[in-house]
Amino acid sequence: MRTPIVAGNWKMNRTPQEGAALASEVLDLIGAVDPASVDVIICPPFPALMEVACALEGSSVALGAQDLHREDAGAYTGGVSGEMLRACGCRYVLVGHSERRQYEGETVELTANKLAAAHRSGLIPVLCVGENAHERDAGRTGDVIGSQLAPAVEPGPADLIVAYEPVWAIGSGAAAEPADAGEVASFIRQRLRDAHGQSIAGRIRILYGGSVNPGNITGFLAQDDVDGVLVGGASLEAVSFARLVEAAGRKQS
Ligand code: PGA
Repeated sequence: MRTPIVAGNWKMNRTPQEGAALASEVLDLIGAVDPASVDVIICPPFPALMEVACALEGSSVALGAQDLHREDAGAYTGGVSGEMLRACGCRYVLVGHSERRQYEGETVELTANKLAAAHRSGLIPVLCVGENAHERDAGRTGDVIGSQLAPAVEPGPADLIVAYEPVWAIGSGAAAEPADAGEVASFIRQRLRDAHGQSIAGRIRILYGGSVNPGNITGFLAQDDVDGVLVGGASLEAVSFARLVEAAGRKQS
């Protein structure tokens, strides 16, 4: 049984002070949820990591970062290494979010290097994959996801989470149909199975992301190969994020 995950990606929102307040509010609201029933991850922007880590201390909610540098240290102005993130209390890191691929020019090769950097520093990467509307309309979803998954099917540590986030569904209010998300998640698991074998592929958690909200989460969680959600907009509001955590907590019970 794979424990469901609810991961909040705050993107470029919230100062350290605002982030600590939001994290505390979330903790208050999810107090009644059995921590064993759902893994909750919050990914604030870099400057808020320490304050949010303090707010989360002693709770079962884990901290994640939204990106990391491909190298471990050195002359990379503006870079943030995996080791630095670990020192801030992070356990997870997003890699290859579509906004980084789209706006920062991240390539599959760079995401592969970042995945390796995450593993070197002991972080669990959440590799984000997903096709854009044009690729979907051209029937290329499988090809695009197959190539973005390349770093996850190379030999090496398979300690990772994969998030399927169709680009057209992110921030648009138009989520994928749950059955379609489930189908792509199964495709992803089959690729992982081909590469790593059933016992490893069966443990890797696959998330859906893109306009998830308290009203639609249940449909995604009902899919066999969808093990949780990666949430942007609805994670910035404590009440809606808490409702997502509650819904995921009910998946197993
Ligand atoms: P959204 O973002 O929930 O606002 O669509 C999801 C994401 O980008 O991870």
